[in-house]
Order: sequence, then structure tokens, then C-alpha cells
Amino acid sequence: MPTYVGIMGWPVAHSRSPAMHNAAFEALGMDWEYLFLPVAPAHVDDAVRGLRALGFAGANVTVPHKQAVMSALDRVTVEARAIGAVNTIVNRDGVLEGHNTDAIGFLRALREGGFEPRDCRAVVLGAGGAARAIVYALLAARATVTVANRTLSRARRLADELGALFRAHVSTIPLNAVQALEAALARADLLVNATSVGMAPHADACPLPEEVAIPPSLTLYETVYTPRETALVARARRAGATTIDGLGMLLHQGAVAFELWTGTPPPLDVMRRALEAQ
Ligand code: ATR
Repeated sequence: MPTYVGIMGWPVAHSRSPAMHNAAFEALGMDWEYLFLPVAPAHVDDAVRGLRALGFAGANVTVPHKQAVMSALDRVTVEARAIGAVNTIVNRDGVLEGHNTDAIGFLRALREGGFEPRDCRAVVLGAGGAARAIVYALLAARATVTVANRTLSRARRLADELGALFRAHVSTIPLNAVQALEAALARADLLVNATSVGMAPHADACPLPEEVAIPPSLTLYETVYTPRETALVARARRAGATTIDGLGMLLHQGAVAFELWTGTPPPLDVMRRALEAQ
């Protein structure tokens, strides 16, 4: 009998994680299978308990369940609780642990792209789940962070909560405040798009107002990976900035989950090729 893991989401058919993990299991000759687990919102608690009942080694969790699964777990790491989202469940002999591997996945992708976040100045666009993981990671690297979001109150909540945790001041600005954004970017080393703006089928959209100039000294980290080159990445490249695309964070959050479940170092090249082939 194979050992099972999978991804819970609703919908989940678009996920690239099954191909990435199954390629890794195959390459290492492991008798493991990674399944699509479509779970309607009303059944989240039952589905989480089902992992234990069915002897799954764990699961990934995606939209819209990353918050909802927390109450059904036996333990949640400090990091996942602070971020407010669980993307990885580990079944340790019947004890279900909730982890968030997005923050560390982001840091690894950033460093792999040649950017060292320690003590940097960063502007993060967005204040949703992805942004919270990224701001957590940046504050842990002692970065100075400004959060720009369409809904300012959401940015302020993120800034207050994570700022208090790291005893750091996190600035906030509305996403349409052109002058304030431009001033923040002029002082920044790193810009991160953690909104969903620019994702297919709305690939023409750009989260940064057109009037805002992108300094060539900036590094842009884009979390959107469909399309591989977003309108924002194209614009930053034209401005002479360095860009890192979103596939790395997807790869590395998955690689950390793989190691948590299996205790085996993940075959990164195999996993990367499986993602790129999709
Ligand atoms: P995720 O978990 O992927 O981060 P989310 O929690 O729904 O998803 O957050 C989506 C982010 O994209 C939010 O920052 C959202 O801004 P609001 O907080 O104002 O909703 C941002 N976003 C989505 N659509 C947007 C749009 N058309 N313009 C600007 N920001 C947008």
C-alpha cells in the first residue's frame, strides 16, 4: 500500500502540487502518492479528521481552507498561527500538526534569485494570506517593511499584528497613493507583489499604479506565476530592475512540506522541472 498525501482546496483541479510531488516520489523510488482532495467548505473539519482516519502522512491546504483547517488540528506552529494560515498538515502518529511553509519558501526563493533580505528595505503590495507570510519572513530577516494595499484597514491590521510580534514598525499606505508609493520605492531594495493582480485570465492588470516609476536598483519579487511573466515583471524589466518570478516560492514551499512529511531531502531539480513542464 502506498503512503498518501494530497492537497485540500475548493476548487483544486488547477493545482500544480500533485505533479511536483509525484515526480519527486517517482524519482526517489518512494511508494507514495499525492492526491487531489477537493473539499467543500462545509466539510473541512471532517476532511482534516479524515486524514488521521485514513492514515495519510499529511496534506497541503490551499484556498479557501488555509484558515479554516486550524481549529481541527491538534497543534499549530507559532509561525503558522502568527501568519494566520496553515498550508501544510503533518500527521505524526495520529497527532495533526499545522505548519506554514510559505514564509520559508519565500525566503529560499528570494535567496536563490540572488537577493539577500537581511536588513533590506521592502515594499509589499497586498495584505492577504500570501502577504502575511511574506511580511513575516521579511521581519524575521530584520527587514524594514512598508505594506501597500487597496484596503488600508487590512494593511493596518497586518502591520499591527506582525509588527508587535517582531517589535518592529511596519508602515502602511493605500495602493493608490502614488506619491507615497513612489517615495517608498525610491528608498527600497525590494518590491514584492503579494496581491493576486496580474494572474491569468486578467494578465494585463498591474497592481502598481502606472504613474509610479520603478527604480532600476530595485529587485521585484512576483508571487503570481500564471503567466510566468506578468505585466508587472515586464514593466520592471523595462525599467532596468532585477526580477524574480513566482515559481520559486511554489517550489520551495512544496520542498519544505516534502521534507516534513518524508524526512527525506527533496529532489529540487526534479520538482522544478515538473512545475515548469505544466
Ligand atoms: P491570498 O491568500 O492569495 O493572499 P487574499 O487573502 O484574497 O489571497 O488576498 C488577495 C490580495 O490581493 C489582497 O491584498 C487584495 O486586496 P484587498 O485586501 O484590498 O482585497 C489584493 N487584490 C485582489 N484584487 C485586487 C485588485 N483588483 N486591486 C488591488 N488589489 C487587489
